[in-house]
Amino acid sequence: MDPGVPVVVDFHNHLVPGVDDGARDLEDVRGAVGRMADLGIRRIITTPHLMGSLTHTPERLVERLDEVSQAFDTAADLVGAEYPEVEFRRGHEVMLDVPDVDFSDPRTRLGGSRLVLVEWPGLRIPPRSGEALVAIRTGGYVPIVAHPERYGGLNGNLNLLAGWRDAGAYLQVNYGSLVGRYGDKARETAVALLERGWADYLCSDFHAREDQKIHLRAVREKLEEWGHGETLVQLTVINPGRAWEGEEPLPVNPATATPGVWRRMKAILGMERG
Ligand SMILES: [Fe+2]
Repeated sequence: MDPGVPVVVDFHNHLVPGVDDGARDLEDVRGAVGRMADLGIRRIITTPHLMGSLTHTPERLVERLDEVSQAFDTAADLVGAEYPEVEFRRGHEVMLDVPDVDFSDPRTRLGGSRLVLVEWPGLRIPPRSGEALVAIRTGGYVPIVAHPERYGGLNGNLNLLAGWRDAGAYLQVNYGSLVGRYGDKARETAVALLERGWADYLCSDFHAREDQKIHLRAVREKLEEWGHGETLVQLTVINPGRAWEGEEPLPVNPATATPGVWRRMKAILGMERG
């Protein structure tokens, strides 16, 4: 790894061929990893969907994890041969369809670390969502909630998300949310999270299809334009890099500068852009 180049780390994407609604085959993997590498994403933890309830029936869980392992290995072989600059690991995006998921198999966790990527079914927040996150913490694991900005029913009320943070969870916003990929509400919530310093990570949630955008270039442009270059690095390089190492994220400064203000100030002062 070239020490001078910031390594973007993405730990939410669907690149295991044929196991979920992401990559269908190795051709999709080849195309997706090539495009990600071009954008500077050089460390990838890929996270196919996994139903948490499956962990209640250990035989079925092992069967599913083995199936994913096999498909992951074929993708990893391709990445190793064709994109040697990319490091490639495996995790899961675990659906909390039961409140008491068993994360004891390391394959259910991000790169086998203590960190787990979770979501709730149907993009609806169930009652007592915070308790499920506390339970994960109590079990010795670190919950990261995938794309909190995409949940319906928030209506700008971020207290619930504050409760998740109080429960010891971290929040991963999708690149695409910041540029309107999931509509105005998700975009507004994503921006509000950045303004509060509550977004801990930005990831792609890329489903490896040719006709889908990754949105990282647009996010870079937006955040630079808004004067949030520092936040961009915290959320795409530093904190996901810590997740790669199995460490919890560093606190993120609120991205409060009015769009354009920092840029103009820096231009006036002759400083480089953030
Ligand atoms: Fe996902």
